[in-house]
Amino acid sequence: MQIVFLKIDNEEVTVLEEIKKREQFGSKIGFILAASGSAIGLGNIWKFPYITGENGGSAFIIIYLLAIALIGFPILLSEFLIGKSTQKDTINAFKTLAPGKYWHFIGWMGVVAAFMILSFYGVVAGWTLSYALDAATGTLSSLAPEEMGDYFNALISDPYEPILWQAIFMLLTILIVVKGVSKGIERWSKILMPLLFVLVIIVAIRSITLPGAEAGIEYLLNPDFSKLTATSFLVAIGHAFFSLSLGMGTMITYGSYLPKDQKLPKAALSVAGMDTFIALLAGFMIFPAVFAFGMEPDQGAGLVFVTLPAVFQQMPLGELFEVLFFILLAIAALTSAISILEVPVAFFTEKFNWSRKKATWIIGTLIFLVGAVASLSYGPLSGFTIGGLVFFDQLDFIASYILLPLGGFFIALFVGYVLKPKKAIELAELTDSKVVSKYWIFTLKYIAPILIFIVFLNSTGLLTKLQELIK
Ligand code: TRP
Repeated sequence: MQIVFLKIDNEEVTVLEEIKKREQFGSKIGFILAASGSAIGLGNIWKFPYITGENGGSAFIIIYLLAIALIGFPILLSEFLIGKSTQKDTINAFKTLAPGKYWHFIGWMGVVAAFMILSFYGVVAGWTLSYALDAATGTLSSLAPEEMGDYFNALISDPYEPILWQAIFMLLTILIVVKGVSKGIERWSKILMPLLFVLVIIVAIRSITLPGAEAGIEYLLNPDFSKLTATSFLVAIGHAFFSLSLGMGTMITYGSYLPKDQKLPKAALSVAGMDTFIALLAGFMIFPAVFAFGMEPDQGAGLVFVTLPAVFQQMPLGELFEVLFFILLAIAALTSAISILEVPVAFFTEKFNWSRKKATWIIGTLIFLVGAVASLSYGPLSGFTIGGLVFFDQLDFIASYILLPLGGFFIALFVGYVLKPKKAIELAELTDSKVVSKYWIFTLKYIAPILIFIVFLNSTGLLTKLQELIK
């Protein structure tokens, strides 16, 4: 039994309750690396470059940076404060801050979204493991560039192979999460993140020193705003969200393990900064090489799996850099996957008193099974579609385009309106910086919810319907 002091409206109320000693990150740097590890993932290295390529290069990067500043940072700080001030899993965090209200449905949406996101994320991560092996054994370099597309399609539509890789990836994720916050997540983030940074920098240097790389560097630095469309803005906002792991309670959960002496605004700034830095570096890894070898930058989702292997083939020491590249992609995916699994694990251990071991194995296995069906939906199950989308794309669509934006939208409203600015600023530890707190409250109350809602309307097709109505 332990005595807990709960502060309610500045009156100290003593609450006696039986609580297990809650886990914590052991150090500030451990927390920053774990949260950055969550943010930096397939989103940065696989997705950011290809959407940049599809949306015309550096002009898109500029609006992405704006989206991070206007929406990403404010919501990241909000999630951290909800976690840190309550020290609870997502659902109980909302119950603590707004007792008797329904805001904890945000937590429920997050738990559901975690199941959905990790099931397809694990499949893509499995592909990267498979590619790392193919690169190491020389299989990739033995293919003709025109064969890369078919090779990739053969892998993802195979009924067994991708599921085997997904199983290996999920097993690694489970083994880290089982060990707990400081001995599992923090310890591995401290090993894997520096390794990731080093690998990204090595590959980026190789890429920008290639003869003919200038065209790619120019593509990244010289904005051509005529290439932007209305959709580019929506894509930038949606991606800022996904890339910072927002809207699902990941950062609430990590914030809840925060040591007391970590200052929130600084933490949010570091995490948003590192995530953006790695996304930009990923651009510098990929585009100079793509241009140097006369490939097209707008190949879409196949950029990393189809275009890059052809690029590595022509690069001096390409095979070595290719192995490094796919290993770093798998590492980035792993530190993100553990953060996604941690959300339902935290909830089940705290709500139902399950042991961490039990929660991690059961939830991890369930997610693997759903993911296996997602993987099959690119192969034997590709005939089953709902609304034209196979199961894999359904999961992605519902989680990334509906649950995450709604989650972010309500988090902004909750902190901006329900908590009231004074309380929010106090909990966010912003009392001594007037300018930042004004900016934060303003973006949280007005800019972020409106923009996120427009993205939501657009991605669900409701925006087009509205436009037709207005006409
Ligand atoms: N941010 C990670 C990436 O860029 C993915 C991720 C981890 C995520 N946790 C999340 C996305 C929570 C949305 C919500 O790949």
